Amino acid sequence: MSETLVDPPTVLRVAGLSAGYGGPPIIDGVSLEVKKGKIAAIVGPNGAGKSTLLKAIMGVIKVSSGHVLLLDKDCTNMAPEKLVQHKLAYVPQVANTFPDLTVRENLEMGGYIRRHGVHERIEELCELFPDLRKSLRRKAGALSGGQRSMLAMARGLMLDPEVMLLDEPSAGLSPLFQKALWEQIEAVAATGVGICVVEQNTRRSLRHADWGYVLVLGKNRLDGPAHELLHDQEVIDLYVGRMS
Ligand SMILES: Nc1ncnc2c1ncn2[C@@H]1O[C@H](COP(=O)(O)OP(=O)(O)O)[C@@H](O)[C@H]1O
Ligand SMILES: [Mg+2]
Repeated sequence: MSETLVDPPTVLRVAGLSAGYGGPPIIDGVSLEVKKGKIAAIVGPNGAGKSTLLKAIMGVIKVSSGHVLLLDKDCTNMAPEKLVQHKLAYVPQVANTFPDLTVRENLEMGGYIRRHGVHERIEELCELFPDLRKSLRRKAGALSGGQRSMLAMARGLMLDPEVMLLDEPSAGLSPLFQKALWEQIEAVAATGVGICVVEQNTRRSLRHADWGYVLVLGKNRLDGPAHELLHDQEVIDLYVGRMS
């Protein structure tokens, strides 16, 4: 019996990327791929350069060599505000919502360059994030950590991105909220968005991701199907063994 397996298209391709903060490169020749509707998880020890990698992809810091291709278009060193027009969304780890604005206002801000359809998009996102609908009039600062993470993701989705970069979305959340958040990330991927997520909880992120990349000292260490990495002895010894 043969089953036709169609490989989804690559929506983000990072090739040999190097970048830093003016001194020696912090990330050094990093490559990865994100496929449509799939979750790529970047794991690795603290200080490995995971956040730096996302900032380099997003044009927040300058890339010194290598390429960022979005839907096969070269977007290396493009300004963040242009990248959002090329369907890339970035949810940084901190300061990703406006605490004094309501949930609805935060979503409207996320859709600021939309010509039309802001209201309709908020409706769609409330379907995808049921928890947000009942909080639309609340200030973002009054939400729980888990709800704020969901809002940050929903804001990033206001411009219908093809690719979303998430930096430690479940940091600081209780295990129950982490689980809910990961289910939400899977639901977003199921709508066709390619997701590149950096996480501190190696075991949980590899459990939910399709592909995993282990980053050590700013370089690719190994990568593969996330479920296989979860059982890889080196990964277990280094990062998974003692985690919940
Ligand atoms: N704004 C910055 N200026 C200078 N060095 C930085 C800055 N941010 C991070 N670094 C350095 O880059 C390295 C990688 O940091 P980071 O990308 O935040 O790692 P991770 O997200 O994997 O924990 C660390 O050595 C850190 O000290
Ligand atoms: Mg980080």
